[in-house]
Amino acid sequence: MNRIITLDEFIIHRQKDFPFASGELTGLLRDIGVAAKIVNREVNKAGLVNILGSAGGDNATGDEVQKLDLYANEKLIECLKNSGECCGVASEEFEDFIPIPAVASKASKYVVVFDPLDGSSNIDVNVSVGTIFGIYRRKSNADGPCTLEDFLQKGSELVAAGYVLYGTSTILVYSTGRGVNGFTLDPSIGEFCLSHRDIQIPNRGNYYSVNQGYYLKFDVEMRRYIDHCSDMNLRLRYIGSMVSDIHRILLQGGIFLYPQTRKYPQGKLRLVYECNPLSFIVEQAGGKAMTCQLQRVLDLEVTHLHQRATIAMGSPDMIDEMKAFVEKYSALPTFN
Ligand code: AHG
Ligand code: MN
Ligand code: MN
Repeated sequence: MNRIITLDEFIIHRQKDFPFASGELTGLLRDIGVAAKIVNREVNKAGLVNILGSAGGDNATGDEVQKLDLYANEKLIECLKNSGECCGVASEEFEDFIPIPAVASKASKYVVVFDPLDGSSNIDVNVSVGTIFGIYRRKSNADGPCTLEDFLQKGSELVAAGYVLYGTSTILVYSTGRGVNGFTLDPSIGEFCLSHRDIQIPNRGNYYSVNQGYYLKFDVEMRRYIDHCSDMNLRLRYIGSMVSDIHRILLQGGIFLYPQTRKYPQGKLRLVYECNPLSFIVEQAGGKAMTCQLQRVLDLEVTHLHQRATIAMGSPDMIDEMKAFVEKYSALPTFN
């Protein structure tokens, strides 16, 4: 049997790849691993305790907040606060970022952005949900509290990013810019163990993932591309939790799309804590991520914490193909 490598062991080992590493990033990743275990425990018993359902309100982007959204949010903040490895967080669930005071006057140089629970409309029906996170080096002066500019950095500035998928098993996937690795939670020992080493996305795949229910609300170029996916006999898979849909594509190849619709003219998904961290992972695995207007996601200017973006990401050859459709059909006069 292969020797088990735990997430903590792997992270510490990788720290040696960064010559001036202070251990802070290592500590942060470990904190996120601990929060993921706590959230996982609660997600797993969601039907048994009074934690299902709506918390009775909307969040900063107008989505209905579920109790587990708030629980996951709280646990992540708690874990990040306690260790003092980060000086601020921004979450889907808060309008503004939250500065974290230094612990034992240790000035931290990182901020963390996250979507505590992604796909939360799936919780009540026992379908996979996830957590998405991104880590930036702060831009503001280390002597004072963090500032908004620390969070409004382009995705290309990410130091690390990842996600946790609470699925048939729970897996944490992350990258610090040197490839992508996945760790499956072994519930018998309570540890994330290396299970997917150096994930490489296939150049093409058999899956496309889009909310086909909005087909008539998409622009013509996107409709033509979706028609093409169907003509090619690709399999449509759409879970409605971006983490789950991207995880499939990362491992098996394919394309994920969330274009603009009339309801969401800028796209629905949020750039800072959904699109950028997952684009970072997809690119690190050899894939591509662009907007449906064909800009690289990681190069987008960030002006607002809850900014939205359209997105197409996945296998590189399929993204190139989608790009060719957009170029061809958006150049034609439309009669729709
Ligand atoms: P969240 O639960 O964090 O608000 O995210 C839900 C997102 C994303 O995960 C998913 O891909 C998308 O919303 C689904 O939206 P539609 O129901 O409009 O397809
Ligand atoms: Mn989400
Ligand atoms: Mn969410």
